[in-house]
Amino acid sequence: MRKGILTIAAVGLLTAGALTACGDDSSNDPSGSAKTPKIGVILPDSKSSVRWETADRRFLEEAFKAAGVQYDIQNAQNDKTAFQTIADQMITGGVTALMIVNLDSGTGKAVLDKAKSQGVATIDYDRLTLGGSAQYYVSFDNETVGKLQGEGLTKCLTEKGVKNPVVAYLNGSPTDNNATLFKAGYDSVLKPKFDSKEYVKGPEDAVPAWDNAQAATIFEQQLTKANGKIDGVLSANDGLGNAAISILKKNKLNGKVPVTGQDASVEGLQNILVGDQCMTVYKAVREEAKAASDLAIALAKGEKKETGQTVKDPEGGRDVPSVLLTPKAIYKDTVKDVIADGYVTKEQVCTGTYAKLCAEAGIS
Ligand code: BGC
Repeated sequence: MRKGILTIAAVGLLTAGALTACGDDSSNDPSGSAKTPKIGVILPDSKSSVRWETADRRFLEEAFKAAGVQYDIQNAQNDKTAFQTIADQMITGGVTALMIVNLDSGTGKAVLDKAKSQGVATIDYDRLTLGGSAQYYVSFDNETVGKLQGEGLTKCLTEKGVKNPVVAYLNGSPTDNNATLFKAGYDSVLKPKFDSKEYVKGPEDAVPAWDNAQAATIFEQQLTKANGKIDGVLSANDGLGNAAISILKKNKLNGKVPVTGQDASVEGLQNILVGDQCMTVYKAVREEAKAASDLAIALAKGEKKETGQTVKDPEGGRDVPSVLLTPKAIYKDTVKDVIADGYVTKEQVCTGTYAKLCAEAGIS
């Protein structure tokens, strides 16, 4: 009996000592875990879109710095093994919250489950991990992104006045749930037009890992297959769109065939200004980064936040608490809005021959 009490007292002292030694303050931590908040972020690559390194990294850093929280942002460079190694190192290194942009749901799930088992809070950033275990999902309304692309292509085809246009699809990576959602969005606009024979469905391919170089090869094959008769290209992002434009240029068809995009990249915006690209979809990554970092910081402190919205994971059947932001379609006359929002600068977009086009598009 006596011995028992002593043991408990000793453990109590040890715990208190350990906490003091770490210099942690558990007073506002209901979980009692009392760890210094540190947020790990794994970005997917730097080639499928320029956004990850030029926008996400920058805006996440901005948000973490403003919150005065420790962070570690790394890029897996489209390598699934590296993705898992980075996650392991972050967990061992003491992150209290882990944000991932998965390369596919399988490795994403493995990483999320491991983090969870180690008591690390998890967030799916931009891409939902199907069958995964992330506590939150922060992204844009991705079906709306696709809908804006479908509507954009329709608008540009109408302006060109082509009768019964043949539309080709360059879809995103088959392992990215966002690519599925984008397609659902543009199909909702275009499929009725194919069904009514107003439009003709041309070749359709998904581009593995959103690889821009491969997209050019795929589009060249599509154009050959269609005997050069493609009147519009529904391309899922600016990188794939630029790949299609490069092949259209080779065939002197650029500017005649509208191409869609996404991400409001400098290159995409320049393609719009020059008339080779119909539109892009601007997603204010600063807001996405802010929403995700707010949640990560709350989780790291052991707090729970209400997002007021959930997204159903079609594979796991889970309702995942989510923040979904609103995307915006950008045409020649609204390129200026992206610049005004500080996403890209006038200096980046309005270089050389683009200076005149910028002036014409009201970019001052
Ligand atoms: C993102 C897009 C990006 C694409 C390729 C998607 O998951 O939502 O913004 O263009 O991945 O990186």
